[in-house]
Amino acid sequence: DFLKQKTNEPILEYRKGSRERQDLEAALDYYSKNITDVPLRIGNQKITNNLERKQVIPSDHRSTLARYTYATGEQIQEAINVALEARSAWEKKPLVERAEILLRAADLAGGKYRMKLNASTMLGQGKNIVQAEIDAACELIDFFRFNAVFALELETYSPISTKISTNSLQYRGMEGFVAAIAPFNFTAIGGNLPTAPALMGNVSLWKPSDTAVLSNYIIYELLEEAGMPDGILSFLPSDGPVFGNTITQSAHLSAVNFTGSVPTFKTIWKNVADNLDKYVTFPKLIGECGGKNFHFVHPSAHIESVAAGTARSAWEYSGQKCSACSRVYAPKSIWPKILEKISEIHKQIKLGDVRDGSIFLSAVIDDKAFERIRGYIDYARTGADGAKIVLGGEYDDSTGYFIQPTLITVTDPKSKLLREEMFGPVVTVFVYDDKDVDQVLNSVKDATPFGLTGAVFSEDKEFLYRARDTLRDAVGNMYLNDKSTGSIVGQQPFGGSRMSGTNDKAGGPHYGLRWASPLTIKETS
Ligand code: ALA
Repeated sequence: DFLKQKTNEPILEYRKGSRERQDLEAALDYYSKNITDVPLRIGNQKITNNLERKQVIPSDHRSTLARYTYATGEQIQEAINVALEARSAWEKKPLVERAEILLRAADLAGGKYRMKLNASTMLGQGKNIVQAEIDAACELIDFFRFNAVFALELETYSPISTKISTNSLQYRGMEGFVAAIAPFNFTAIGGNLPTAPALMGNVSLWKPSDTAVLSNYIIYELLEEAGMPDGILSFLPSDGPVFGNTITQSAHLSAVNFTGSVPTFKTIWKNVADNLDKYVTFPKLIGECGGKNFHFVHPSAHIESVAAGTARSAWEYSGQKCSACSRVYAPKSIWPKILEKISEIHKQIKLGDVRDGSIFLSAVIDDKAFERIRGYIDYARTGADGAKIVLGGEYDDSTGYFIQPTLITVTDPKSKLLREEMFGPVVTVFVYDDKDVDQVLNSVKDATPFGLTGAVFSEDKEFLYRARDTLRDAVGNMYLNDKSTGSIVGQQPFGGSRMSGTNDKAGGPHYGLRWASPLTIKETS
């Protein structure tokens, strides 16, 4: 029966006038008019005093969406104590009982909570309807369901027994607690980071991103309704260094499940190294970090696919998917045609408030992101590295953090615009001489330290497979004749290599093993 759960959640379309569209609009209206108080959650406590911090609507930044507070170091320590106390009963529960909680949570996310999840993700994290639906509804539901089934499948393996020995393997939870540090850009990742370890018998301290507090708290509430016992998950918005220092100084840290920037992940590794002598167990450090994802275009490529794929990958959700395309290598022979098609798409794309159902993209997440991205556009505007702003390039933060979808060409292959992660709706194109195609292909991997996603567009299959082999170590997720974004749980397990992370493939069958401390038992007869 469980195996039936391994199908992807269908995407709702929200056509104008449909029932689901009305429900979504009602939820958007509710959250627009009411400020939600988001508490800290530690054990059975709901702590709502001193809610001095605000989550705002990025496309209307004078509007407050939620109020919350930061957990103090003492409160984080208290959450560790509560988690450790809750752990032993939880870890001893049969896996199937823990899995049932996640399957119930999947049903709640797909039903009663769907519009709350989508509306809070749209308003708080700047997604349009489609981008919210594929994340906060479908991917979240898929994580819950697939993780539950994958874990049950792990348990079906048993080691070989002989006449003299009976052997078994138990997937224990790890001794201690897991710290789950979530990003703003995917609500689904916010839900996956603490719950995947919990499913395997662990207890998690969940630090949501400041700019995704509301959607993440809605997930916490639905998990509670699904039967997650007190203390298994603590919900702890907090200052990064306070959270990081408290967890890494605890003797009981068993793992960190992190999605965020490379520098923050490196800081966590260093803090763990500094505290190594304190630990009961070697903490596992699992990270999904940045990228500088590429589209490599061969002269034989299908022009429409390149243009549509690049526009979507680079500009959808304002380029704030870790998988977003931010550098393109295109041949001189077909670049004018590609540009013509991308320009047509660019003209039709609408940028605006998330409540406007016709937008393609909205504001970037906050003032820091706005300033960072604007800095790169201004750099291009000086003409450095032979840069030319070909499409977009305007920005305005007077009401929301709006940045036009932008396309820049550069003539210097070493330009920082081709090397550094911008995390915004800006794509840099290097137009190469067709005769240099192999040389340019060979330069793609070492142009950046990252290794997240990349795509090759070529109708010439011989080249396509050669490029696939050449770029083998350049990425964790490779796309052949498709854009670099949009991995689906159970279809394309997701993770980056090199400095993009530890490549543990969330949404794949082996992810759960990262959160287990397997026990082998041999009994001799
Ligand atoms: N799953 C997300 C994507 O591939 C990260 O775009």
